[in-house]
Amino acid sequence: MTDIPSLPLIDGNRIPTIGLGTYSLQGDAGADAVATAIRAGYRLLDSAQGYENEDAVGEGMRRSGVQRSELVLTTKLPDEQHGFDETLASFDRSAATLHLDIVDLYLIHWPVPEQDRFVESWRAMIRLREEGRIRSIGVSNFSSEQVDRLGRETGELPAVNQVELHIGLDQADLRAHHAARGIVVESYSPLKHGSELAKDPVITRTAEAHGVQWNQVVLRWNLQLGTVVIPRSKDAARQAANLDVFGFQLDDEEMAAISTLRH
Ligand SMILES: NC(=O)c1ccc[n+]([C@@H]2O[C@H](COP(=O)([O-])OP(=O)(O)OC[C@H]3O[C@@H](n4cnc5c(N)ncnc54)[C@H](OP(=O)(O)O)[C@@H]3O)[C@@H](O)[C@H]2O)c1
Repeated sequence: MTDIPSLPLIDGNRIPTIGLGTYSLQGDAGADAVATAIRAGYRLLDSAQGYENEDAVGEGMRRSGVQRSELVLTTKLPDEQHGFDETLASFDRSAATLHLDIVDLYLIHWPVPEQDRFVESWRAMIRLREEGRIRSIGVSNFSSEQVDRLGRETGELPAVNQVELHIGLDQADLRAHHAARGIVVESYSPLKHGSELAKDPVITRTAEAHGVQWNQVVLRWNLQLGTVVIPRSKDAARQAANLDVFGFQLDDEEMAAISTLRH
């Protein structure tokens, strides 16, 4: 089984550098897909209340037979539940649906600046972490300015910012800002939805040179930027292929050529 490297978080915890995206993995089939991924070696799982699959992801964790303490479960606060009391109540609903006492990583799904309540939510998340119900707190889809505001107003920066990041959208400024503060960047849609990248000649040539698949080159590029990736697949063979990305390395020239691609 693949030994997955991990990155340190500013709160002293660690996060595996690859996890399973679970958007649209729902119901019994979703739980099976999650259990299959865990048995294949995935330890980080990315759910959200908005995906309406916390029940399936929790069930998949139990079905896998892997100890709870080995798994890093992520879920997210929905947009319409921002605010201090609303966040406490929303977290309770997530924990109940997951059938878990502790959430390993809890994220604000979107900043929703027009509501301007994300700082209140953040204070509630700090409280929940202090109470031991959350191990690490973070955000998603936040700009560097919004991240700085959390630090300024509460003294606490997020451990993680989960943002869209893939070939053609490398988030260089945000990565540099976060690296300087020890905030881990987690890349969502790293395969760009399994899209046209599969046919790109630079990607396919690089894959051929390393004797790997296009998706492995794409994920490797992302990992070598220093981010965590959370590719989603419902298929056991594709899940396994996506995890098998630690046996080769892209050189500087390959990284640079891939970084210029625009899709
Ligand atoms: N925070 C946010 O706002 C946010 C937004 C979007 C996504 N996310 C998270 O990020 C996760 C990943 O992003 P995503 O789901 O948008 O897209 P993605 O992981 O880039 O792509 C998923 C698609 O690629 C296909 N695929 C996966 N592995 C493949 C392979 N080896 N070969 C060919 N096709 C493959 C999957 O189909 P099969 O299932 O059929 O393999 C699926 O259609 C989500 O599931 C979610 O957890 C977060």
